[in-house]
Amino acid sequence: MAQQLVKIRDLKPEDMRAILDIEYRCFPDPYPLSLLHNLHKMHPRGFLVAELDGKVVGYVIGVIRWGFTGHILAIAVDPPFRRRGVGSALLISMLDRLRASGAREVRLEVRKSNVGAQRFYSKIGFVKQEEVPYYYEDGESAIVMTYKYGAR
Ligand code: ACO
Repeated sequence: MAQQLVKIRDLKPEDMRAILDIEYRCFPDPYPLSLLHNLHKMHPRGFLVAELDGKVVGYVIGVIRWGFTGHILAIAVDPPFRRRGVGSALLISMLDRLRASGAREVRLEVRKSNVGAQRFYSKIGFVKQEEVPYYYEDGESAIVMTYKYGAR
C-alpha cells in the first residue's frame, strides 16, 4: 500500500535532522552528524530519502567506488513505517541510480546478527559472499553481500 504513496527523492539540507533521528533510532553505532554532512558534501547524489505524507521516514546512502562498484553505506526506515515496502522502494531507487552512474555491481556489509536485514537484501537479489570477522567496533562480524545487475 505504502509503495503507492511513498515518494523517493534526493535529500534536501533540511532533511538532515530527520535522517539523524532515524539513524540514532535504528543503529547501535550511528553515523555522527559531521560524517553525514561530509558524505553529503562528497556525494551529493548519494542520498535518497523516502517521504510518506510529507514526513521523512527512511533514507539510503549509496556511493560509487573505483568507478564501477556501488556501495550501500546505510539504509534505514523508521520503525513504525517498516514492512510496508519503503525500504525496498529506497534500495531499488538507489540500485537504479548507481547503475546509471556506471556501477556493474553493488556491495554492502551487514551485521551477522541482523538476519532481518539480510532477508530484506536477499529478497531484492543480493547474495551473501563472505564473513569479515571483527568488522564492527564491538567485534561483531560483517556479512558481505553483493548484487549483480540483471539479478532482478
Ligand atoms: N525480517 C525478515 N524479513 C524482512 C525484514 C525483517 N525484519 N524486513 C524486511 N524483510 C523482507 C520481507 O520479505 C519483506 O517483505 P514482506 O514484508 O512482504 O514480508 C521485504 O524484505 C521487503 O521489506 P520492506 O517493507 O521493503 O522493508 P522495510 O521498509 O521494513 O525496511 C530495513 C527494511 C531497511 C532493513 C528496516 O528493517 C530497517 O531500517 N532496519 C534497521 C536498520 C538496518 O538494519 N539497516 C540495514 C543495515 S546494513 C546497512 O545499512 C548497509
